[in-house]
Parts: sequence; structure tokens; C-alpha cells
Amino acid sequence: MQTPHSTTGYTPAASPSSAKAVIGMAADHAGVTLKAFLKAWLETQGYAVRDFGTYTANRVDYPDYARLLAEALLRGEVDIGISICGTGNGISMALNRYRGIRAALCWTPKIAQLARAHNNANTCSLPARFITTDTAQAVVEAFLATAFEGGRHQQRIEKTDALPFTPRGHRKIIRRIIAACRALVPGRHA
Ligand code: RB5
Repeated sequence: MQTPHSTTGYTPAASPSSAKAVIGMAADHAGVTLKAFLKAWLETQGYAVRDFGTYTANRVDYPDYARLLAEALLRGEVDIGISICGTGNGISMALNRYRGIRAALCWTPKIAQLARAHNNANTCSLPARFITTDTAQAVVEAFLATAFEGGRHQQRIEKTDALPFTPRGHRKIIRRIIAACRALVPGRHA
């Protein structure tokens, strides 16, 4: 049983290891071919797949596709994400800006299994330029077949979620408050 995330209220619609989760996929131009391969394979396995692009090899920016996938995950429209870019890092970094998204860079089936079992990852990120299609398929298979273990791992996730997160707008407000306070006490902060 998944628990809602404290800030976003995000609850995966189904346990990723249960029957057939709805899969959301996103990639930049470097990941478009691997995305198509995995999408076709997932559909033969009976998964419903929502493909958030990109759809061609034209150069694009991975945050634009990470955003579409993250928002669908947070709205509960998809249960699990598969995100792909050249290294898998850029799109993971973008996804992990969203509270409630836990995107894990996975390049072996074991890493994928542990990302689910220990980190309760809800998005599997793949490095298209550094992984074969066979390995990528095995990675996704392991990711989807594994459930979160909970227990000691749950409190680590909660501690991670409790780490400071300051949205950009808030930073500006905080800077203004600090500047105003300094102006009230001339000389002390010169
Ligand atoms: C695109 O050339 C590449 O930079 C991107 O796919 C990814 O590897 C970034 O992290």
C-alpha cells in the first residue's frame, strides 16, 4: 500500500510491481530510439504506455519532457516513469526537482531492483548512449518486477523528503527579507 506524499499528496495509482502499472515515458532526442524500442516491448507485455515525447531525432531540451512526465506522475495519470536521455543524468536531475518524484539512474538490472526495493524509485532513468537495448529491457523488467521493501528504507525516504527545498520564488522573497532587515540595522552588515 503506497502512502500519499506529505507535500504533493501524490499516491501512485497502483503498486508498480502489481498487475499492470500505467507507464509514462519521456526522452530527449538522444533517447528517442530506445524509448520507441521499450514502448513497443512494454505494449507486448500488456502495459498501457503514455508517451510524452520527444518523437523525433530533432534536438530538444530534456527538462521540457521531464516536466511533462513529472506532472503526469504527480497527477496520478501514470504510475511509473521511464525517462531517457544520453547519459540518463540530465533528465533524472530535472525530474528530481519535483517533490514526490524519485528518478533513479539505472544501468544494470541489479541497480534497478535496488532502486525500487530500497529507494522506492518511481521513475527509471536510462542512459541511452551507454546501454544496449537488451540491457535496457532487462533493467526495465527488473524495475517493474520489484516492490519497495519499506521498513528501514521508509524513514530514509522520509528524511530525504524533509531536506530543505526552496522553490526559486521563495529564495527571492527570503533575499528581500534579509535585505530589508539589514537596511533596518545600518552598519552591522557592511
Ligand atoms: C544530449 O546531447 C545530451 O546532452 C543529453 O541527452 C543528456 O545526456 C544530458 O544529460
